[in-house]
Amino acid sequence: MGREGTGGILSIATVDHHWPALSVPPGVYPKQLSFVHRFRDVKYDVFLWIWPRSALFEIGKPMSGLRAGYRSMRNWLIRSSRRPALGHVQLGDLHRRTPISRDWGFDRGRPIDRLYIERFIGAHSGDIRGNVLEVSNNDYTSRFGGAKVMRGDVLHYDDGNPRATVIADLAVPNPGLERRFDCIICTQTLQFIYDFRSAVTQLHLWLKPGGVALVTVPCISQISREDMKQTGDYWRFTSVAVRRLFAEEFGEGVAEVEALGNILAAVAFLHGIAAEEFGEADLFEADPQFQMLITVRAVRQEGS
Ligand SMILES: C[S@@+](CC[C@H](N)C(=O)[O-])C[C@H]1O[C@@H](n2cnc3c(N)ncnc32)[C@H](O)[C@@H]1O
Repeated sequence: MGREGTGGILSIATVDHHWPALSVPPGVYPKQLSFVHRFRDVKYDVFLWIWPRSALFEIGKPMSGLRAGYRSMRNWLIRSSRRPALGHVQLGDLHRRTPISRDWGFDRGRPIDRLYIERFIGAHSGDIRGNVLEVSNNDYTSRFGGAKVMRGDVLHYDDGNPRATVIADLAVPNPGLERRFDCIICTQTLQFIYDFRSAVTQLHLWLKPGGVALVTVPCISQISREDMKQTGDYWRFTSVAVRRLFAEEFGEGVAEVEALGNILAAVAFLHGIAAEEFGEADLFEADPQFQMLITVRAVRQEGS
């Protein structure tokens, strides 16, 4: 079969309204086919088009050739109607093999995942009260918990963090920490724990009954070079994985799981373009096919 292109001969045909053989695939006609002109009269549709070269190769062959020619033309019509046209996507500043920022966008403003995380934690600030445990620092505890927090602890897996008040590996059982916390803020951490399942078990056990875990995990993200060196950056999660994972520990239907992001947010975040460079409508219109960040709010049930 010859290479397809825009070349070919101009054709005109009058087509009876009820002749199905030349019907254009649904959704393609008439808007996208700028090169097909349709003149309507009462009885006939008149089409004017340019045949693809590959279709011309089939002309003159018997029935099967005609059918193949039609099929080839139909496929060409579909492909040609794509916008932007094949080979004409304008990538502009994104046509590069290195990201705009390797630092998540911190060097430009606020990283897009941080906007999502802060919005999520802020929406559940009422849960941040009493004894609160946060991973690595207490930024969100102090910012969103305020006076409701009686005691704010910082978890670190070893003694290398001067802000840490609880030295413990989240993936390792620790009876001394069980039923200690009203709230655990565990943002962007489970992906760095090889045994993340055990970490979710500990989150559940370390909460008091009625206590709340506020958790976020990435689905589409750069690798964290720093965490890769220190602990390993192992996992990315989808909303269904997270829903199942938390249902196994906290009970069926207990965890509220939400996926944030869309194609624009995901591409921008991978490049480290900052949240301030977009309008909120662009970033908060969620597309479940392009989950960037997953948020979880899970409450330890009484009696569990
Ligand atoms: C990106 S920080 C997230 C925490 C921080 N509050 C935030 O949201 O930016 C990831 C942290 O996970 C911690 N981490 C990794 N493995 C851990 C483990 N097994 N137990 C406890 N913390 C762990 C590391 O100390 C690292 O600082």
